[in-house]
Amino acid sequence: MLLLLLLTSAFVLVPWTGAGRIIGGREVKPNSRPYMAYLKIQNGPATSTCGGFLIRPDAVLSAAHCVDKKGKGRITVILGAHNVHGRERSQQKIQVTQWVIHPKYSRDGFKNDIVLLKLKPKARINRNVQIISIPRRMERVTVGAKCKAAGWGWTSVTGNRTNVMREVELKVQNGTICELIFQKYQRQSMICVGDESGKKASYKGDSGGPLVCKQKAHGIVSHGRTRNLFPEVYTRISYFEPWIREQLKKFALQELPDSSSSD
Ligand SMILES: *[C@@H]1O[C@H](CO)[C@@H](O)[C@H](O)[C@H]1NC(C)=O
Ligand SMILES: *[C@@H]1O[C@H](CO)[C@@H](O)[C@H](O)[C@H]1NC(C)=O
Repeated sequence: MLLLLLLTSAFVLVPWTGAGRIIGGREVKPNSRPYMAYLKIQNGPATSTCGGFLIRPDAVLSAAHCVDKKGKGRITVILGAHNVHGRERSQQKIQVTQWVIHPKYSRDGFKNDIVLLKLKPKARINRNVQIISIPRRMERVTVGAKCKAAGWGWTSVTGNRTNVMREVELKVQNGTICELIFQKYQRQSMICVGDESGKKASYKGDSGGPLVCKQKAHGIVSHGRTRNLFPEVYTRISYFEPWIREQLKKFALQELPDSSSSD
């Protein structure tokens, strides 16, 4: 009976219109998470928002489900923000014209929920805007590791919102817990994360943001349930590292001057 309840309430952390914050966390010191990106996704008259993070001056990682419905709209990446609705001199706004959703991404079960956005012009790296490292292919976070997730998503299940970045500490969980609750959970490509008390979590609007463990982005906020905050599923970045490297190489190649006209 309990399991049935758990299963039926499965829901995605959909990108949400308007900004808010993490549940059970606290406001971060302004500009102390310089890798964080705020994504505005315009799709016709509707605008949704998500998190993301800078992994190179020309590349932001986020969740594929944030952008999969976008037709001919546009995506704006805001870097160096604390209050996303404030006029902050630290902010850099970049229109994104190119992005790559993982070819095996599927909304059913949120498999391979990862997208790489290309920034052109590149971000200017300074005190407020910096990149974060990602793990190598075989580098897995251990069960029990304490990590942090930041974002501008909802601060309560009833939708309280604010404009400033918040952060929460969450523990990497044994994948068995997620397998029980999320039928499409995949150990190799997802991370099971959460706070057992059910009082701390990332939530709607935090999608696409990073799970940071020991200064490295190990996960991407992907999906969870609307009522039960524990556990949640993050995209496992180490599994996608070869794919990410490949895309970054392609981005760089596009920037090379055409050899036939360079002499
Ligand atoms: C949400 O906002 C309402 C109204 O401002 C406030 O009374 C309530 O305590 C807030 N709830 C949470 C969980 O922050
Ligand atoms: C996860 O839980 C399973 C089943 O309880 C157990 O066999 C396994 O050793 C656990 N793995 C870790 C890494 O704790």
